[in-house]
Amino acid sequence: MLILGIETSCDETSCALLWGDRDVLSNVVSSQVEVHRPFGGVVPEIASRKHMEWILPVLREALEKAGRRLDQVDGIAVTQGPGLVGSLLIGLGVAKALAYARKIPLVGVHHLAAHIAAAYLEDPGFRPPFVALVVSGGHTALYHVTGEESFSLLGQTRDDAAGEAFDKVARLLGLGYPGGPVIDQVAREGDPKAFHFPRAMSKTQGLDFSFSGLKSAVLNYLRESILPPLSPRALADLAASFQEAVVEVLVQKTIGAARICNVEKLIVAGGVACNTRLREQMTLRAKQQGLAVLFPRPSLCTDNGAMVARAAWAALKKGEGALDLGMNARSRWPLGVHGN
Ligand code: KG4
Ligand code: ZN
Repeated sequence: MLILGIETSCDETSCALLWGDRDVLSNVVSSQVEVHRPFGGVVPEIASRKHMEWILPVLREALEKAGRRLDQVDGIAVTQGPGLVGSLLIGLGVAKALAYARKIPLVGVHHLAAHIAAAYLEDPGFRPPFVALVVSGGHTALYHVTGEESFSLLGQTRDDAAGEAFDKVARLLGLGYPGGPVIDQVAREGDPKAFHFPRAMSKTQGLDFSFSGLKSAVLNYLRESILPPLSPRALADLAASFQEAVVEVLVQKTIGAARICNVEKLIVAGGVACNTRLREQMTLRAKQQGLAVLFPRPSLCTDNGAMVARAAWAALKKGEGALDLGMNARSRWPLGVHGN
């Protein structure tokens, strides 16, 4: 079965071709980072316009790289939500048009289920049950995954997502956009113990997160304690100390979730899963607890069409995905909450 995966939920336009459940024949991602950089964040109206311009060239390139034609595609998977509604609609429109014209099934995919499905592409032998930490620019959530299509939400952020905190703190430090990769880089030269920033909600039993106070703590520190301009040393120490505060809470809660769910395996997915320190610390702490941990490679962690195609594989294989031209974007769409 050849599946076309389409992702346009935020600022990456991506199309991928997946053969069966594991062979990624192509995974073309066109990032809009440069377009949004002058604004310091994603501008929704510009994002949807760029998706419109790029989606067909990206689709063409994905087919070319895979060495396949459109008439060989057996099913289509498209991100239906959550995300920016104007951006989601571009992917959905293209997906519906192709499915209608070719008379093939179409499955609407949950974006976070797609991030989790990246684990099956990284290691096809990796199976549920496991605990998944999904950390991206828009989400920070812990799931108990008991089957490819069975998720229970264990906890999530009450305010900012972890990636959002990286982006906001990078802006405060004058490091530009997007903040995650640049803080990761700068922090390598810094001392993570130089400043002590709050580990929000780390003392509570629950599995929810909060990152907005951490951003304020960095801001207050900058206002009260350091005269500009920041020395490269102070900048690196601040970046490393901030990153450490985020990483410690993510690691502690994820390991705690594995213990509560009595599972032996963990995955970390989403853009922030690219973070070097998070990879190091999670791997170390998981090992100490006798837990196996899987991080998809960076190109499968940030938004991409291959994970979307993989997330729809089980449904398409079961013969689901009757074409519904009324299928709409779902900007808010809970996953793994009772009743969903
Ligand atoms: O999953 P993703 O590509 O898009 C969303 O669904 O949001 O994640 C993007 C987020 C951004 O906030 C970006 O700053 C963050 O992932 N990110 C990182 C790193 N690489 C990307 N955060 C920390 N360290 C990184 N190396
Ligand atoms: Zn994402």
